[in-house]
Amino acid sequence: MNHWKLAPIALGIAALAAGCSNNGATTASGEPAANEVSEEEIEQRSMDSREAIQQFASTLQGELMAAMEEGGPTEAIQVCNEVAPEIASDISAETGWDVGRTSLKLRNPDNAPDEWERAVLESFDAEVAAGTPADEVAPSHEVIQTEDGARFRFMAAIPAGSQCLACHGEDIDSDIQHALERLYPEDEATGYQAGQVRGAFTITQEM
Ligand code: HEC
Repeated sequence: MNHWKLAPIALGIAALAAGCSNNGATTASGEPAANEVSEEEIEQRSMDSREAIQQFASTLQGELMAAMEEGGPTEAIQVCNEVAPEIASDISAETGWDVGRTSLKLRNPDNAPDEWERAVLESFDAEVAAGTPADEVAPSHEVIQTEDGARFRFMAAIPAGSQCLACHGEDIDSDIQHALERLYPEDEATGYQAGQVRGAFTITQEM
């Protein structure tokens, strides 16, 4: 079963450490926003977001690896189906933020991106198309003014590694295919190659 052992999930931690130099505080329309928000506050919120994402990533990876070892990928699909949304809502409850995963090609329609998330996901893909390795794409953050007040938003790309392809790749085993079809009749999250951006962790903090 060595084939199913998961290598440490490459979650762009290097990219997370690289900071967010390509971002500023702007509204969705590009207007400067929330001038009263200090650099220090942005930095703090970014660091806290990274921490929450690392917790999400390592908890999920642990669950996934245990399930793969115990019952192979079909067992692990069940775990992803039940445990991934649970971990997201636990961390959301703990932090008081909205914490989740999203993608341009969805498996679970509950993970659909909103307008801002879609634009960031497209920019991640564009960076990779322009030659940046998927695990070096820097996270994106922005302060957005809404009618209900300011929101700090943060997204970090999730690279597709070879260990993801059993369930997200081009050539999926028929048992896995059937298990996926049962749970996700509208699954779009296959056909990936290692080195692409599979999706992103996404955080919204009310300010
Ligand atoms: C055992 C099969 C399996 C493996 C291996 C797997 N996934 Fe998934 N993945 C799933 C399932 C099932 C879901 C849907 C989870 C849910 O319902 O929220 C999912 C959802 C996701 C999502 C959320 C977006 C969406 O489409 O709903 C991302 C992002 C993701 N996977 C990335 C990865 C990455 C990156 C890897 C490798 C490190 C990986 N997955 C490995 C089965 C798998």
